[in-house]
Amino acid sequence: VVGRSEFPANVFVWENLRAKGVEVTVLPPGPGYTTPEDIRQALDGRTRVVALSFVQFHNGYRADVEEIGSICRERGIIFAVDGIQGAGVLELDVSSSNIDIFASGGQKWLLSPFGTGFLYCSKEVSQKLFPVFPGWLSVREMDRTGRSVLDMPFELVEDARRFEIGTLSYQDMAGFRESLKLLLSVGVAEIQKHIFALLDALIPELTKLPVQIQSVLSPRNRSGILAFKCSDVRKLKHYLDQDGIVVAEREGAIRVSPHLYNNFEDIERLCRSLRTHLHKLG
Ligand SMILES: Cc1ncc(COP(=O)(O)O)c(C=O)c1O
Repeated sequence: VVGRSEFPANVFVWENLRAKGVEVTVLPPGPGYTTPEDIRQALDGRTRVVALSFVQFHNGYRADVEEIGSICRERGIIFAVDGIQGAGVLELDVSSSNIDIFASGGQKWLLSPFGTGFLYCSKEVSQKLFPVFPGWLSVREMDRTGRSVLDMPFELVEDARRFEIGTLSYQDMAGFRESLKLLLSVGVAEIQKHIFALLDALIPELTKLPVQIQSVLSPRNRSGILAFKCSDVRKLKHYLDQDGIVVAEREGAIRVSPHLYNNFEDIERLCRSLRTHLHKLG
């Protein structure tokens, strides 16, 4: 079962399994996010995996992963989370949320080079999963120094290295490591607080402007992403680009996603720019 309005990276990998006879249910887009009730209704006795984003890429909805995790755990279903839009900036405990698999590229909120990323897999589930693409480093005997690689038996290592598909791009990993050090030196809780404070400064300004906020802003479902629509999103994006303000246009909305390097002056600049341009759009 795949959630509503998921980014294609978290849909195609599952749909690809249809060729192997796996039944894949992709929930219809609905309001653009998936609730625990949606998941409850989609499950049946044969469901093996629920795949969901921690945070929705286009509207920033933070899923109720704790509740969905416990629904899955009760039924022995693997809960696989695409964490890329929240990892590093939103506090999350994978164990208490009953998340079995948490995957994230490093190139977004983790401020790391393209090609970096990580996969968390609980010990229990990692033992049950058979790696589709084992690499030469995925086997037990590789840990023994001085061992010839030519007659290495194909016995998978116990830990998550069994899922590594080969030699890593170590130069990218060096950048990844430095970024993680930086983020951890500030602390995820602090970063989250800072980002929410920036968005809290933006929200009241938006409510005075001709825009429609698309994000759910309740404490449990908010994130670092705030999206809003207006009469001509494409044009507004163009004006913001010209003013040197970096936002994204996603699914017909402007997506604002400040990070630890942004400050209140940046938010003020964005507001000034919005006030100037929005009235021109009619
Ligand atoms: C929710 C989500 N998942 C995955 C990706 C990217 O996946 P990958 O790192 O596999 O290219 C993105 C954006 O690029 C995303 O927003």
